[in-house]
Amino acid sequence: MLELLTEQPPDKILMLSQMYREDPRDDKIDLGVGVYRDASGNTPVMRAVKEAERRILEGQGTKAYTSLAGDPAFADAMIDLVLGGAVPRDGVAAVATPGGTGAVRQGLELVRMANPGAAVWLPLPTWPNHPTIVKHLGMPSKTYRYFDDATRALDWDGLAADLDGVPAGDVVVLHGCCHNPTGANPTLDQWRGIVDILKRRGVVPFIDIAYQGFGDGLDEDAGPTRMIASEMPEAIIAASCSKNFGIYRERTGLLIAVAHDSGITKTAQGNLAYLNRQNYSFPPDHGARVVTTILTDPELRGDWRSELEQTRVSMLDLRGRLADELRRFTNSDRFDFIAEHRGMFSRIGATAEKVAELREKHRIYMVGDSRMNIAGLNADTVPILARAIVDVGI
Ligand code: LMR
Repeated sequence: MLELLTEQPPDKILMLSQMYREDPRDDKIDLGVGVYRDASGNTPVMRAVKEAERRILEGQGTKAYTSLAGDPAFADAMIDLVLGGAVPRDGVAAVATPGGTGAVRQGLELVRMANPGAAVWLPLPTWPNHPTIVKHLGMPSKTYRYFDDATRALDWDGLAADLDGVPAGDVVVLHGCCHNPTGANPTLDQWRGIVDILKRRGVVPFIDIAYQGFGDGLDEDAGPTRMIASEMPEAIIAASCSKNFGIYRERTGLLIAVAHDSGITKTAQGNLAYLNRQNYSFPPDHGARVVTTILTDPELRGDWRSELEQTRVSMLDLRGRLADELRRFTNSDRFDFIAEHRGMFSRIGATAEKVAELREKHRIYMVGDSRMNIAGLNADTVPILARAIVDVGI
């Protein structure tokens, strides 16, 4: 039987990490996978996470199962973080999932259970795992325009026109903040316009929010998600704790289904628990417990917020420095968009050949679509990257 299996295409992002590890040259620069790194290239465990883990280690008296939906205190704390009271609690169903990817997967399965014919509309481009999960689930998939390759900014006219053609009942995937891979995001006015279109068309928003706190601030980044959740009759939200709590390998996420109606919410909650049971029974608990401990303790929460804020500001600083260096080297403002983008990534708009040249000639690794992880840079490597970009003629 196993001989009937065929090779699967490698994941573009994870393949790049492997190439980087296998490159024997010194002074390599990894701008690939979306993992935060400090100025020394480390991905540190956040102070509040360390302290929460210490408290859990000392205080935890059992490892018995929680509930199928995970610890309700985790759901409450995360719903508060993401939705900030935008929707009454009895209008929101939620389950803990293994990471944000687990939440995306469970959310799409929920869509398929509710409406098997619904097409899933993905921004072009989007995180490469979105289309592959949709395909793996056998769901119909469509794309809508998102990014203008010429300006490296949002293609607002294309996006608005395409969303205006989505049939009622279909699902539109939106990145809640810090769009991956482009770094280009709608303004608040444009989000307002998106909500109006979604309402008019009667489509279901599916928000993937994996970088809350990495863009303009914790509450600012959640603003569009809150607007959608409070104004649309329904919304599905996949939230990740990997990046903003730096607990990537703990696989901690929450899937939220907003229905406003308490009866529908109750049924959705039962379906979400059922999905967890079919896929892996109980969701992982450790990361969720760490997050709950932090979010429910004012002192830990404050410390976590300030460390996260430092992370966000350091990425903004790197964006500013890189845009400045490129302005200096090219004598033009054509890379100013890097300072306008938000989050961990920017797509700089280079061909796959130029990206390969950056790798081969300058030891700089970015994803083939020219997505770079800003957090992979530091004050020393910014000028090296700027010079390399100019050298290969991007
Ligand atoms: C990324 O886009 O690099 C991150 O979300 C990590 C991943 O799983 O792809």
